[in-house]
Amino acid sequence: MSQSIEKAWWKETIVYQIYPRSFQDSNGDGIGDLRGIINRLDYIKSLGVETIWLNPIFKSPNDDNGYDVSDYRDIMDDFGTMQDFDELLAGMKARGLRLLLDLVPNHSSDEHKWFQESRKSKDNPYRDYYYWKPPREDGSAPTNWVSYFAPSTWEYDDKTGEYYLHLFSVKQPDLNWENPTVRREIYDVMKFWLDKGIDGFRIDVLPFLSKNLNWPDQTPENFDGNLGHFYANGPRLHEFLHEMHEEVFSKYDCTSVGEGPGISPEQALLYIGKDREEIHTLYHFEHMDLDRDPFNWVKPKKWSLVEFKAINARWDAIVEKGGWNTAFLGNHDFPRMVSRWGNDKQYRNESAKLLHMYLLTQRATPYIYFGDEIGMTNVDWQDINQYDDLQVFDGLNKWKEAGGDEAEFVSYLPFTSRDNARTPFQWSKGENAGFTDGKPWIGINENYSYINKESQEDDEQSILNFFRKMTRLRRENEILVYGDYQDIAPSDPAIYAYTRTLGKEEWLIAMNFSDLATSLGSGHLENKKLVFGNYPESATPDGNALRLQPWEAVILKNE
Ligand code: NOJ
Repeated sequence: MSQSIEKAWWKETIVYQIYPRSFQDSNGDGIGDLRGIINRLDYIKSLGVETIWLNPIFKSPNDDNGYDVSDYRDIMDDFGTMQDFDELLAGMKARGLRLLLDLVPNHSSDEHKWFQESRKSKDNPYRDYYYWKPPREDGSAPTNWVSYFAPSTWEYDDKTGEYYLHLFSVKQPDLNWENPTVRREIYDVMKFWLDKGIDGFRIDVLPFLSKNLNWPDQTPENFDGNLGHFYANGPRLHEFLHEMHEEVFSKYDCTSVGEGPGISPEQALLYIGKDREEIHTLYHFEHMDLDRDPFNWVKPKKWSLVEFKAINARWDAIVEKGGWNTAFLGNHDFPRMVSRWGNDKQYRNESAKLLHMYLLTQRATPYIYFGDEIGMTNVDWQDINQYDDLQVFDGLNKWKEAGGDEAEFVSYLPFTSRDNARTPFQWSKGENAGFTDGKPWIGINENYSYINKESQEDDEQSILNFFRKMTRLRRENEILVYGDYQDIAPSDPAIYAYTRTLGKEEWLIAMNFSDLATSLGSGHLENKKLVFGNYPESATPDGNALRLQPWEAVILKNE
């Protein structure tokens, strides 16, 4: 193991991400809630994960499903009450589970009291909580910036005759981090939850907190069409994060994971290097852009394993320089893992297991998105009305504005829409997949009759039980957390093979990311024995060759 790696619980932990709206409904309103999670804590514990990340649970009018917060110190009505939260936290602690909440500090809801005040008058004490600017001379918006969920990042407000900034929807005005009082408010919110006993935060669009106050227009010279690149890494960002560390993180045994759009591995070290005293970890999006048009999220594109491995190698290298990584293959903003990176038809079982093996053998903290442990897939919805996400509707407007055809746009959604990953958890083949007694807030994937937790529970060969065995293997073998990582076949188009080494021990993970049987040749295969595999009869090396079946994955170690 590299001398430079300092051990920490947040490097060793396995994170399970829950989208509360879709996990388990307890009161028949068709929306998942905190009590639903409480009722499923034993299941979560049984997975062998140790930390839960909950997508936002704070009070919100739900323009963007909780990423528009109207009160940072209260619970969303749909999800329950503060008493439910306290009970949830107590239930987690009793089971040795940790909790990360999802902090949304870049923007609030326009229904937050701060914004309601701010828009009243130019001299309101809350005016500077947000970015307000007068129109240009011709009356147009202050810049030509494109918003993630609207044509422009600026919305004109009649009341005071000025525009406010919103990088996301018009109902998500950006908080003004230049204002020290705003920063203090957010630190106080963080302390409020940490004092309750949570273990840290996932921090939404962290790199966007500091804005370029020269307000340059987007031009071909400074804007490559990728919004993340343009809005990330503003001039005062690291000053703010250092302050956050001083004011909050340094006072608690906690962790933080920054959502990191627009960040390169080199920049990552500025956020997470130990001497920087900013945040603990972040997750990047470089691999997430591989299978879609980087300038138009809706359009799928073919991805290559060689590129995927190259990205991983560049990110793994930051561990040698004092950083630490996270490993994820999907979350609430992307389609389902097995539908993207695996084969969700003929080899769904094998490929879902392979992907879990990948996640749980990386030199990084693994993040598993709920439902992936049973191999849930994308939907097959061909009707725009089946979708619920504001990103879809804004995307369609922009698409049509650029002359695109609606039917083509809709045909891409089963590959790229966020709603693919937001359908309810498939607990059983019973009514509404056991998710709710009411009408689910979004459709349930039709395949719940055969993809569900109940049918996998007692099947030793199920994806669910494979996942449990993998979490256990990682928890019991430090080499999988801290061991050195080396890709031994970076240019192989079908096989991903890497070693993890610690002291005299060498483990080899070899995975066939293809529908065809294929062979790996390597000196690392000699004198290796099988630890674990995803086929009932696993491949074992013959000298320095290993033949892998479609989507076969094995872990070997030296004798
Ligand atoms: C990133 C979140 O993950 C996404 O779901 C949300 O829409 C945007 N940030 C805006 O908060």
